[in-house]
Amino acid sequence: MTEFTGKTAIVTGAAGGIGRATALLLARKGASVVAADVNPAVRDTASMIRDAGGRAEAVVTDVATDAGAEAFVGAAIDRFGGLDVLHANAGITGGLVPRLDEDSATFLEVLRVNLLGPWVAIRTALPHMTRGAAIVCTASVAGLRAGAGPIAYSASKAGVINLVQSTAMALSGRGIRVNGVAPGLIDTPMTALLYDDARAKGREDRIGQLNPTRRGGQPEEIAEAVAWLASDAAGYVNGQVLAVDGGLSAQHPFTPKWSL
Ligand SMILES: NC(=O)c1ccc[n+]([C@@H]2O[C@H](COP(=O)([O-])OP(=O)(O)OC[C@H]3O[C@@H](n4cnc5c(N)ncnc54)[C@H](O)[C@@H]3O)[C@@H](O)[C@H]2O)c1
Repeated sequence: MTEFTGKTAIVTGAAGGIGRATALLLARKGASVVAADVNPAVRDTASMIRDAGGRAEAVVTDVATDAGAEAFVGAAIDRFGGLDVLHANAGITGGLVPRLDEDSATFLEVLRVNLLGPWVAIRTALPHMTRGAAIVCTASVAGLRAGAGPIAYSASKAGVINLVQSTAMALSGRGIRVNGVAPGLIDTPMTALLYDDARAKGREDRIGQLNPTRRGGQPEEIAEAVAWLASDAAGYVNGQVLAVDGGLSAQHPFTPKWSL
């Protein structure tokens, strides 16, 4: 028996990166996992879980649509008979640099995937969740304040932080907790350009230099935080967004030469 034995978890954006790491971890901890992503590589995530002796179903869909959400929630109910954990994690950047001339279509698409997506997932999952269930959304340090991402992306993630707070409040008394994680810079397909560029220049040691832990993070380190927030061990944690960023958001910008 492990902490998620007998439970069913949905992870969106599970084709790679943080979502895959979380799906694998929750499965190792006993959960039956529905892994959803628009990228068919999500099937590999489900295969990895099954090969390791776990239970998993892949759903290839746009998770930021009503039909997509019904597909992955339906898979949890039909295949595994319930729904205990939702990790609304799928996201896009819309580009890696802040642009004041961002066109409306791109801006809207970032909001659709990053903010509407978790909302649609929550709204569709809730009728199937009972007391003890838990929802964890992936926000970002970019949503806490400026300087960690493009404008639409940062605004969408700020929205996710409030979505966590507002839905936790709206679920008052129902025994369903809603929390979020705010990752810092994590080594995933989303940041591959940056990591590849740094590695090609032999400057990998510069990655994460602005946080006091002085390195970038690994997707497994975010997965651990998600699993904890989704577990009964975090039973009194509700409406919170936990920064998992090596300490980046704990400090004001500083001039490195001033540091001791
Ligand atoms: N990597 C980082 O440094 C970092 C930092 C902070 C927050 N995040 C957030 O973490 C989450 C996971 O990102 P990641 O870093 O693992 O990168 P990733 O690109 O590997 O994961 C995002 C996944 O979401 C999927 N996706 C995108 N749009 C979708 C849609 N409409 N329907 C279904 N799936 C869709 C992608 O196919 C991809 O597999 C995202 O919400 C991202 O914004 C990442």
